[in-house]
Amino acid sequence: MSSEERGDRGTDLTDSLLRQQDSLHKNGSARTVPLTCSREMSLKDTAAVAAIGAHSSQSPWDEKSVLTYFLREDTLFVVEEEPGTGLIGFAALLMTPPESDVLDIVVEESRRGRGIGTKLLDALCDQALLRGVDTVFLEVRPSNAPARRVYEKLGFEETGIRKNYYTDPAEDAITMVRRRNIIFTNR
Ligand SMILES: CC(C)(COP(=O)(O)OP(=O)(O)OC[C@H]1O[C@@H](n2cnc3c(N)ncnc32)[C@H](O)[C@@H]1OP(=O)(O)O)[C@@H](O)C(=O)NCCC(=O)NCCS
Repeated sequence: MSSEERGDRGTDLTDSLLRQQDSLHKNGSARTVPLTCSREMSLKDTAAVAAIGAHSSQSPWDEKSVLTYFLREDTLFVVEEEPGTGLIGFAALLMTPPESDVLDIVVEESRRGRGIGTKLLDALCDQALLRGVDTVFLEVRPSNAPARRVYEKLGFEETGIRKNYYTDPAEDAITMVRRRNIIFTNR
């Protein structure tokens, strides 16, 4: 996929979610239900993704790094958008089909604990599956209980420990993997 194609996507889903909220409102349902949408990142999201990292990640990428990763053909970014607010999270994958590695996943601090991180990573893995990626590897700090819970909820399994993997602060990494089956059909 070219960078031009990547830059063109991503505005329609927000409109669609706003229409869903209006429809809920008209039907008497609570308009305050937090509806967010997962979609692939586009070029115009670069600054917002860097800002989320700067506010909420332990080792954030600056805008140039986000752009460099985004423009690579072997990466996949999914963002979470909240209508009326903007981006509130992102997740990124480095793909070497049929395998891949999670590069990062970050949800804005004020939006955590509502299932958004789980939704984001699930959407990322689904998009990767469409590109022939059925195996997702990742590393996580043993002390990062919320992230470990997200991975556990999505069926990732622990495969081992990488000694002294992290710095600032120094910590081992738990390595994890999730394998899925790609089902090919004629239709
Ligand atoms: C990891 C992260 C993306 C999760 O996002 P999130 O939107 O809070 O994720 P979810 O709400 O889907 O799930 C979080 C789970 O952790 C649980 N949790 C939160 N704090 C916890 C703690 N201290 N101990 C145990 N579980 C905890 C939540 O209860 C929830 O589980 P539940 O659904 O069973 O109740 C977010 O915490 C984050 O951005 N962290 C900073 C960046 C980071 O560490 N990324 C991971 C790099 S490996």
